[in-house]
Amino acid sequence: MRPQAECLDKVIKMVEQLPEEGKIWFNGAFVDWKKAQVHVLAHGLHYGSGVFEGIRCYATEKGSFIFRLKEHVDRMYRSAALYKMEIPYTKAVMTDAIKETVRINGFDACYIRPIAFYGYHHLGVNPAGNPVDCAIATWRWGAYLGEDALKNGIRCIFSSWCRIDPRTLPVTAKATGHYLNSQLAVFEATERGVDEAIMLDINGYVAEGPGENIFAVKNAILYTPEAESAILPGITRDSVITIARDIGYEVVEKPITKAELLSADEAFFTGTAAEVSPIREIDDVTIGEGKRGEVTSVLQKKFFDVVNAKEEKYMSWLEPVSI
Ligand SMILES: Cc1ncc(COP(=O)(O)O)c(C=O)c1O
Repeated sequence: MRPQAECLDKVIKMVEQLPEEGKIWFNGAFVDWKKAQVHVLAHGLHYGSGVFEGIRCYATEKGSFIFRLKEHVDRMYRSAALYKMEIPYTKAVMTDAIKETVRINGFDACYIRPIAFYGYHHLGVNPAGNPVDCAIATWRWGAYLGEDALKNGIRCIFSSWCRIDPRTLPVTAKATGHYLNSQLAVFEATERGVDEAIMLDINGYVAEGPGENIFAVKNAILYTPEAESAILPGITRDSVITIARDIGYEVVEKPITKAELLSADEAFFTGTAAEVSPIREIDDVTIGEGKRGEVTSVLQKKFFDVVNAKEEKYMSWLEPVSI
């Protein structure tokens, strides 16, 4: 098998197929999973003109809770505004629809994927005049990089592809087309046999992973690229910064060089999918002691306590859903 085919084959064996059961909220009504379909000439399919969110619902001893739902919905509408897209539902309707999708599918814990994209009408580059189609799907999803990754850390490479630049695209938007950039980085990681890629910005500073923000720890101080740099300012990033500062850690948002990251005591990714994932190696260089570091362990534990409704102080981040 050619190396590229071998690589794709490996990925195909790794990933689980979508479940194809339950209901999807599609333009205001619930439809069967397999009936949530669009035309092959939908604008979003041809030009990547869509915005979306990735949200987690956690099953806890106090019931099911969606983590920072308001912030996710706000970001989705901000992403849409950056692309002059008008989502034809209010935030309140979208929020209720997300909760109802979780409820109707009966998941106590799941991943939630709301999306708004330009649908079928005409295929000029300018999407104006096309309908904005909206959907919300849910499915069960465990640890994105695997349970072992959360405990023992992951191996990364620096991607040869730079993260999209704020002068090229509004990087703060979570837009479907932006993920072509992420895909190139992920291909490289897979081809080189590691778990994940790290992208630099066009000036050579550390930006983020294909679907995660990044932190370095040196002398118990946390460093992460600024929210205004070439990153998607993550909701998990914001949560971890808040939690860290509340514990008493200093958090510095600044440009990070490759050398600073490689010589960090600890490094970790944050993201809805990756949660708090320690990084133990980059480009064959061991980070710190090559395992989940002390500060990362503290923050990871606290993060899981927060999402599992064990921390009174952060209960306002949790949106209850009665299953
Ligand atoms: C490119 C990128 N960066 C960072 C993140 C982390 O963001 P969040 O913590 O809001 O999931 C994501 C995931 O949404 C992402 O796709």
